[in-house]
Amino acid sequence: MVRTTVSVIKADVGSVAGHYKPHQKMLDLAKRMLAEAQETGLVKSFYVYSIGDDIGLVITHHKGEENAEIHGLAWNIFKEVTEKISKPLKLYAAGQDLLSDAFSGNIRGLGPGVAELEFEERGSDPVIVFAADKTEPGAWNLPLYKIFADPFNTAGLVIDPRLRSGFIFEVLDMIEGKEVRIKTPEESYDLLALIGTTGRYCISKVYRAEDNEPAAAASTSRLSLIAGKYVGKDDPVLIVRAQAGFPAVGEILAPFAIPHLVAGWMRGSHNGPLMPVSFRKHAVISYFDGPPRVIAMGWQVSNGELVGIDGTEPADLFDDPFWDYSRNIASQIAIYMRTMGEIMPARLDPTEMEYTTLPQVLKKLESRFRKTRSLEVGVP
Ligand code: F6R
Ligand code: MG
Ligand code: MG
Repeated sequence: MVRTTVSVIKADVGSVAGHYKPHQKMLDLAKRMLAEAQETGLVKSFYVYSIGDDIGLVITHHKGEENAEIHGLAWNIFKEVTEKISKPLKLYAAGQDLLSDAFSGNIRGLGPGVAELEFEERGSDPVIVFAADKTEPGAWNLPLYKIFADPFNTAGLVIDPRLRSGFIFEVLDMIEGKEVRIKTPEESYDLLALIGTTGRYCISKVYRAEDNEPAAAASTSRLSLIAGKYVGKDDPVLIVRAQAGFPAVGEILAPFAIPHLVAGWMRGSHNGPLMPVSFRKHAVISYFDGPPRVIAMGWQVSNGELVGIDGTEPADLFDDPFWDYSRNIASQIAIYMRTMGEIMPARLDPTEMEYTTLPQVLKKLESRFRKTRSLEVGVP
């Protein structure tokens, strides 16, 4: 049986009007390079999208996950786009996410985000790719829990016998670089205890418990932890398989109806609502460099290829009047959060902020701090 891999590899290598959107020539060059790789047989099919200042490559192939040729191709595309388009046009933050020059077989750890899912195709295999801008991998924790573990979101967990065995979540500790598998529904409280800490624990994979069949994969890189300093938010991607033994497409989209707060937004230092938008019309940023956005692209994966509504052009799953309601709520939350200015929790915890003046302020005030009565600060 042929196994197919869906690889989604994304990077911010420059954009127009600040962080608004990549230049069309950047997308065109990426498409040309992928079309060449398709002719050699390395790539079976592909789609190039953008959200905010990020470019994403969706590639199907038969090489498996973590493949050096596929990762090398994506790396070369981001390098070429930077050198041939972003830099000559002086686009904003040209080459931003290419943190290292040391490609040696795997793009992970070099800056770009990666999500990959290898599986044996079913009779029919609907797949959704989500991509977010102005946030981090922990942004998927809440929707992934709802999709695969919350019976109030996913009716199939209760009324479809094929979903009754539950799911296994692979949770990554991004600080210590270790992972743990947690089974729901039995261990759902343990799962929630971990993934509530979105800056540290994120869900990297989900498997159907019954047969260990892969159901979802998310990108987990945190640029700041790679670079040792804050260099922009990670803008994560997520692949989810749908229907016939997995949650239905509508159950997978449902958690985004009430926008949840995610870390990122302006200067990577604020909590803001994740607004679901059409990738064709509204995958850009505006108010306060946001609010953070999420797009959803739907395909069938058939005989190793992406089948969209026209060629590889995907279904634009948040392009429906229903989501106006959610966008409206997101706008209201965004404006409400801004009324708090730079006061937590509108502003992030100091350890999570991309921009800060705190060290300078503390230095300036150092000599003016006076010891206070110990009782009041709890020091013995
Ligand atoms: C956040 C982001 C933007 C920038 C902001 C300031 O990830 O990309 O919100 O942080 O526009 O950018 P600079 O410092 O380049 O002017
Ligand atoms: Mg971005
Ligand atoms: Mg950016």
